[in-house]
Amino acid sequence: MRCKFCERPAFIKLHYPKMYLCEEHFKEYFERKVKRTIERYKLLRPDERILVVVSGGKDSAVTAYILKKLGYNIECLHINLGIGEYSEKSESYAKKQCEALGVPLHIVRVRELLGKGIGEVKTRRAVCSYCGLTKRYIFNKFAHDNGFNAVATGHNLDDEASFIFANLMNWNTQYLAKQGPLLPGEGKFVKKVKPLYELTEREVVAYALANGIKYMVEECPYARGATTLEYKAILNEMEEKRPGTKINFVKGFLRKKKLFEAELQEVELKECRICGMPAQGKKCSFCNFWGLEKPLEFNGRITPP
Ligand code: AMP
Ligand code: FES
Ligand code: ZN
Ligand code: ZN
Repeated sequence: MRCKFCERPAFIKLHYPKMYLCEEHFKEYFERKVKRTIERYKLLRPDERILVVVSGGKDSAVTAYILKKLGYNIECLHINLGIGEYSEKSESYAKKQCEALGVPLHIVRVRELLGKGIGEVKTRRAVCSYCGLTKRYIFNKFAHDNGFNAVATGHNLDDEASFIFANLMNWNTQYLAKQGPLLPGEGKFVKKVKPLYELTEREVVAYALANGIKYMVEECPYARGATTLEYKAILNEMEEKRPGTKINFVKGFLRKKKLFEAELQEVELKECRICGMPAQGKKCSFCNFWGLEKPLEFNGRITPP
């Protein structure tokens, strides 16, 4: 098959809209779509300093690559979670990706910072749950302390569709009101953005391949995976039968999101007595979980060798 726009052989068949594209026209398509996402949802302004949080995986690597290509002012942050081989490998991919881009990379190592790695804490909480809490806190605190205007993550359309689907299936609708491509900044919460919001996982993999972006393929050994992957598989099956299912599901959700706002609980946020970040009680959930007595300081922290 030939590309829809030129004589070159097809590199990919897109299902929605249905078309064959050569490598060059696919890259153009992908980049235009990210640009449109940024404009449509007003994610970023040209003068902002953006912290791209990179896991070593494909989605965040592509996010950093494309924001740099579109001319944004970015730096990257990788959190080494202290999960044995998996984390060492992830860190080395993050380093290679940022070196290839010529973008500064900051590295925060959980074991050095907090004494224990993810998975080594004795607690009844699920590993993925306190891992998520730890990552979110560090992304935000690092960005806040170092004066970034936004944190960009690699979430793609499949991530978003499966998150909404899973939460609807379980009627955990209280999580949906704040879900979307943009979480505006507020007080000490730095704005969060998802530039790949409208691109499928398949498109992200193809874009990485087309640009020679190397990334970590292995899943975390604690993969909360099982159920998320099942929801993704169901959506993929539906997408196959009815192309456009995922994007229409997610866009429909955004139109109806207001319905879930009624479930937002008004909680008065105070300042954590340890770190000064927003907290529901006397301590924020991060300082509380890790039993901190003094705050983590990221101000002026730069790339370790
Ligand atoms: P996940 O929750 O693992 O699907 O990751 C969602 C997004 O969070 C990724 O696309 C990255 O932008 C970011 N992220 C996940 N893990 C890390 C990490 N260890 N260090 C930095 N960023 C991460
Ligand atoms: Fe956090 Fe696996 S990445 S538990
Ligand atoms: Zn072409
Ligand atoms: Zn705190």
